[in-house]
Amino acid sequence: MSDVGLHTVLDEFPIPDPLDVIEGRSVRRHLYPVIIVDGLPAAVDAVCGMLMHSSIALITDNHVGALYGEQTVQLFRERNVSVVLKSIPPGEHSKSVPTALGLMDWLAQSLLSRRDVVVSLGGGVVLDTVGWVASAYMRGIPYINMPTTLLADVDAALGGKVAVDHPTAKNLIGAFYQPLGVVTNVSFLATLDDRHLRAGLSEAIKKGIIASPELFKFIETRLADILGKSPVVLSELVRASSAIKCRLIERDPYEEDLRRPLNFGHTVGHALETTTGYGPVLHGEAVSFGMAVAARIAQTRGLVDAGTSDRIQELLRRADLPIHLSDLPVTVDVELLVASLVKVRLIRDGHLRFVLPLALGETAIVDDVTDSEIRDAVSK
Ligand SMILES: NC(=O)c1ccc[n+]([C@@H]2O[C@H](COP(=O)([O-])OP(=O)(O)OC[C@H]3O[C@@H](n4cnc5c(N)ncnc54)[C@H](O)[C@@H]3O)[C@@H](O)[C@H]2O)c1
Ligand SMILES: [Zn+2]
Repeated sequence: MSDVGLHTVLDEFPIPDPLDVIEGRSVRRHLYPVIIVDGLPAAVDAVCGMLMHSSIALITDNHVGALYGEQTVQLFRERNVSVVLKSIPPGEHSKSVPTALGLMDWLAQSLLSRRDVVVSLGGGVVLDTVGWVASAYMRGIPYINMPTTLLADVDAALGGKVAVDHPTAKNLIGAFYQPLGVVTNVSFLATLDDRHLRAGLSEAIKKGIIASPELFKFIETRLADILGKSPVVLSELVRASSAIKCRLIERDPYEEDLRRPLNFGHTVGHALETTTGYGPVLHGEAVSFGMAVAARIAQTRGLVDAGTSDRIQELLRRADLPIHLSDLPVTVDVELLVASLVKVRLIRDGHLRFVLPLALGETAIVDDVTDSEIRDAVSK
């Protein structure tokens, strides 16, 4: 037979009976590598190993761009990868629909094809924004995360939750859209300021508390090396935290079940961020305060022993993360904080979920915490 190209005969579809159920079905399996290296050349090599074509759009923010943009572009070009580079202003206000649309305009002008790859180089703001752009542009183009903050290394880079903020709510416009791969280079952390390093550490400590006594103990014993940015110790911290996050989210990658241990510290943490207007308190700091509050609630309920609750709070304190109201960089009105939680309870049909620690590596999810328990634990 002569070559007629892809020969398709679709004669196996009878006209369905009136009572036949017609179903749409779509199953996509995602498997992506998470590679952790120490050094920019090794990171660029790892990204190149994931590319199908030799053309990328590298998107970063102005801070990270000034530190690493030129060198990264140069390293890609040395490996015969053609690169177009774009920077967005740093900060949460860039995680917006206008910034995302600006990036789409730029991609359209750069004539990027559906097979080319977008590479995000930055913290959670860049990763969330660019991931959402990648999810929508041409109905989805591949993207690779190169996180540059500890928070992004251990959290934002993994799981495919991409979003931009809306004036009425954070992360309101988004999608689940998985990356082609994640390449984490711990040497980026050398230039990250201490406050952001500690805020990222808070999400790593969280993973130790909910899933790994071993990781918790590692952070306890190696805290000075972590804060001193030892690349070997940071690599181990990021490896363990990334593995835990990947294992926990693979059970429910699209968050159909909202009762997730990963939300430990986030009930009060989110309320604190909302009450203080997203800015003065970093996300990781708010989560630290929320974890301390949850530990105190669990202890008062007799769910966790005082030794474990103290151990959790002591590690956060040693990491210079907030555990009491007086540790926060702003004055917080307790009644406003409780009112914000009451509002969440109303929206969620009377259910305000708290992840409470029972022991290291063990949590319970409860939805009957009262306002007065919250008030007490917040003010302690
Ligand atoms: N998608 C998710 O699953 C997920 C999870 C957690 C947080 N987030 C999101 O992440 C965002 C916060 O991310 P973030 O804390 O990384 O903040 P960020 O992206 O704003 O970065 C913090 C600051 O550090 C700078 N910076 C980044 N890397 C640097 C480096 N190596 N050296 C020096 N400066 C550097 C940035 O320019 C910025 O000014 C929030 O919008 C949050 O909603 C998303
Ligand atoms: Zn978080």
